[in-house]
Amino acid sequence: MNVTVLYDRFFELYGKTEEMPRYFFAPGRVNLIGEHTDYNGGFVLPCAIQYGTYLLIRSNNDLIVRLASTNMDFRTEIPLAELSKKVNSQWVNYPLGIFDQFRQMNIPCTGFDMLYSGDIPNGAGLSSSASIEMVTAFALSVLLNATHLDMLDLIKMSQRAENEFIGLNCGIMDMFAVGMGKRDNAIFLNCLTLEYKRVSLVLDGFRLIIANTHKQRGLADSKYNERVAECQLAVTYLSHEMSISKLGEISFMQFYKMQECIPDELVRRRARHVISENQRVLNAVSCLLKGDILQFGSLMNASHESLRENYEVTGIELDTMAGAAQKINGVVGSRMTGAGFGGCTVSLVREDTVEKFIDQVGKEYHAKTGLRADFYQTEVSDGVREIEVV
Ligand code: GLA
Repeated sequence: MNVTVLYDRFFELYGKTEEMPRYFFAPGRVNLIGEHTDYNGGFVLPCAIQYGTYLLIRSNNDLIVRLASTNMDFRTEIPLAELSKKVNSQWVNYPLGIFDQFRQMNIPCTGFDMLYSGDIPNGAGLSSSASIEMVTAFALSVLLNATHLDMLDLIKMSQRAENEFIGLNCGIMDMFAVGMGKRDNAIFLNCLTLEYKRVSLVLDGFRLIIANTHKQRGLADSKYNERVAECQLAVTYLSHEMSISKLGEISFMQFYKMQECIPDELVRRRARHVISENQRVLNAVSCLLKGDILQFGSLMNASHESLRENYEVTGIELDTMAGAAQKINGVVGSRMTGAGFGGCTVSLVREDTVEKFIDQVGKEYHAKTGLRADFYQTEVSDGVREIEVV
């Protein structure tokens, strides 16, 4: 990100005052394994990536919040009293959802001039929305001097903003990874208890490659909420046998014995995905601790298969992309990452195979879908933070 260009744009939009804007950054995230388990109280293993959202922010005395972005044409000015209203389906609803959280917590707000700039591809399943929410929550907590809020509070506020203001019943994984990310570490999170451990991810001789299908997600949000509801239905059936409130509370062995009490075959498959995926995360973490990258890769492949067969959130683009990757010698594992229905795959690729991977997957993907893929070699980065400008 070119800081000078961003400051110039900020001053062009809002003019200069005595106060200098402050500069914040929140990363996006990629989930290595543990998909659609978070809202089921299961395990996940995401990490923060080097791409993210930058924010320049300065308080003003006008009782107005001004929002602009270098990525979108739409910008707006909203009086403090009207901050709780949604603006159509515009990107500003993500920051507005956060302002609404501060209001609900009775934290008095001043006016602000804000300029966002992101380098996460939109709609690619790399959490551009959680990144905008978390950079806003973190910056506001600093500028409003809300020192009683810790990182977990900001994470929970961002999740509530997404659930209540945006209307997507997502889990906590994205915000958690964006908030708690640490360079060269994945985050092993229990979404039921919110206990977490950082697991070292020094991938000697291997690279993490993210591949973007460029399949727009369209109906993703409504399908997402549909999956959430199907899992709740599975819990209702299973709780006739055992007292549970989330699928993440039962082991695969328990599920195996009780699954017949779910009469609906489709709902049974949804539960099977969640519960088996949970076990895969546990196995994947022990692989990382032992340095068994090959076995880790096999678990990634198995995760994709279950998301395709049981959870049905992949689709032709993601299946083609992951399938093309998995058959290359030197690719240890490849799977869809994020909500699915489009977006990205994540692959673990031997360093000497990266070029071949990009060439071969790109060609096969284009031949079968007519779409052009994009590839990103990402570093595993730190979470949300303020950046000192010298
Ligand atoms: C989206 C949601 C997350 C999680 C994933 C699927 O990224 O925001 O909470 O449910 O999908 O694992």
